[in-house]
Amino acid sequence: MPTLTSLLQLAALAVVAVSLPTDNSTILASRTETAKRATCTVSSVASAANLSGCSAVVITAFTVPSGQTLTIAAASGATVTMTGDLTFAKTTSAGPLITFDTKNIVFNGGNHKINGNGAMYWDGQGTNGGVTKPHPFVKYAGLIKFKGFGTFQSVTVLNSPAHAISVGTSGGSTTIQGITVDNSAGDSGALGHNTDGFDISASSVTVSKCVVKNQDDCVAINSGSSIAIQDLTCSGGHGISIGSIATGKTVSGVKISRNTITNSMYGLRIKVNADATNAGVSNIVYEANTISGIAKYGVLISQSYPSDNGTPGTGAPITAPIAFTGGTTNVAVSSSAHTLAIDCGACSGTWDFSGLHATGGVGHSIVANKAVISGGTY
Ligand SMILES: *[C@@H]1O[C@H](CO)[C@@H](O)[C@H](O)[C@H]1NC(C)=O
Ligand SMILES: *[C@@H]1O[C@H](CO)[C@@H](O)[C@H](O)[C@H]1NC(C)=O
Repeated sequence: MPTLTSLLQLAALAVVAVSLPTDNSTILASRTETAKRATCTVSSVASAANLSGCSAVVITAFTVPSGQTLTIAAASGATVTMTGDLTFAKTTSAGPLITFDTKNIVFNGGNHKINGNGAMYWDGQGTNGGVTKPHPFVKYAGLIKFKGFGTFQSVTVLNSPAHAISVGTSGGSTTIQGITVDNSAGDSGALGHNTDGFDISASSVTVSKCVVKNQDDCVAINSGSSIAIQDLTCSGGHGISIGSIATGKTVSGVKISRNTITNSMYGLRIKVNADATNAGVSNIVYEANTISGIAKYGVLISQSYPSDNGTPGTGAPITAPIAFTGGTTNVAVSSSAHTLAIDCGACSGTWDFSGLHATGGVGHSIVANKAVISGGTY
């Protein structure tokens, strides 16, 4: 019979054994388990509820039901890929309907679609009224929101109810490339409205080689710095815009290069709200863009927004450099359009327009305030 003392000694040994370092097989097993857990499949809204332990997320084809929204919040550095189309049933949910909120994400849509079923909402009134569209509580929330930061590529955003992609990234730099926003079906009956392609309120963002077919701004930069918009193809909409700039918002350090804009109301705009204060725009450079088929203004720099070319405000200065340099930006406007219009209430510095070559239409109109426009043809 073992004594009580020897039993206690055995128990103590057992405790020691448990606390010994794990052997090889235990380590391997736990590694395998971690790796398994790290790959997560999103095939429903519920399955995306907690992706915080997922370093790889695979989104399969499914439909997000009415009344629900989807958030992809995976582990830092996660790869997120799509293996099928995501479709959104008609909803009265506030946008965004899908949010990517992952630090250092590598998102690849595999050229699958995110389908917003816009035709179920489009009534020609956009976000100004009519059918409730998923956007209202956060301006520009739209169909998709990019938060976190990283790389977003290779997806087609089809038929957004109103604004398509809102870029609100932070914490690191972001590259968006090879994304198509196709709202061209909204041209029919002029039903698509406020269907912005990319609304950017973020810094350190490059948007490259994207295609936008829509009925409003191809890109609108509402605030931020260190932004490059390059090699985009925009059609049917309102061109590439800085703004509209509201009170408290600034945009600086933007390069807009090698984009092609066709069949649009405007080509390139800087639009500052007439009533904006404590705000401003500076350091905007346009190079080697190709713009044609413009119905209203080839280039419009306005401090009278929402007017096109009206009575400017003075609370949000536009300051040099505002430049067309580094490769000619060619602009061809329609017969009743202006090549260039500037309405400044508070502008300053020398604006090098030597790389602007604008032709057609009814000519230009310039109220430059203290800015000096040098070079260019328009
Ligand atoms: C696995 O076991 C071998 C042999 O006992 C040892 O050399 C090696 O360091 C162990 N590896 C790990 C990861 O513990
Ligand atoms: C989410 O998952 C992680 C690990 O994958 C876990 O640690 C955490 O507790 C989960 N959170 C909730 C709210 O379930």
